[in-house]
Amino acid sequence: MKFFVDSADVDAIRELHTLGMVDGVTTNPSIIAKSGRDIIEVTKEICSFVEGPVSAEVTATDADKMIEEGRKLAEIAENIAVKVPLTWDGLKACKVLSDEGKMVNVTLCFSANQALLAAKAGATFISPFIGRLDDINLDGLDLIADIREIYDNYGFETQILAASIRTANHVSECAKIGADVMTAPPAVIKAMANHVLTDKGLAAFLADIEKANIKIV
Ligand code: E4P
Repeated sequence: MKFFVDSADVDAIRELHTLGMVDGVTTNPSIIAKSGRDIIEVTKEICSFVEGPVSAEVTATDADKMIEEGRKLAEIAENIAVKVPLTWDGLKACKVLSDEGKMVNVTLCFSANQALLAAKAGATFISPFIGRLDDINLDGLDLIADIREIYDNYGFETQILAASIRTANHVSECAKIGADVMTAPPAVIKAMANHVLTDKGLAAFLADIEKANIKIV
């Protein structure tokens, strides 16, 4: 499973990158707004050290403008994935941009039918939003499983990019289902390392180290 970082916090992305945990990055307009930085400038900085796909989202809602913006975003670096919303216009833009050889990430996916359309339109990635479905009392993981089944039935090459991941548990469940990629904020990726028994076990070891005065160097 590939790990993308859902963030525009360059320091946080760098820290995870040093650990080999960054196969790509995703941003969206809310993430860019939170960073307080210019979208082109911050995306360029991320692309200067992240080798994998870096998603940057268009701001327009009509296909022609999305295509224009997508082409401009794609000029930032070769590893840009143009992010378009899953609307009819977004699908039109996806088809044109993917036919031009650009990576396209179709975002805001909330149904299996939407994912089917994105694959037909040549999307490189489909981004189903798990957490936002959970927020309205639906099971976001069911959607990941449905898309996996449909894509496998027909051999679609569009990669399932599990998004809106809010918990470490979401990550392992997506991995079990077979999502190709997951994107999560740095805090969620770090939380994957936590386990209460690890903390308890380490505390016991540290007490014994002190008691027996164990030294290595
Ligand atoms: C993915 O590409 C999105 O940026 C992101 O995962 C949305 O997450 P949220 O629903 O927690 O805002």
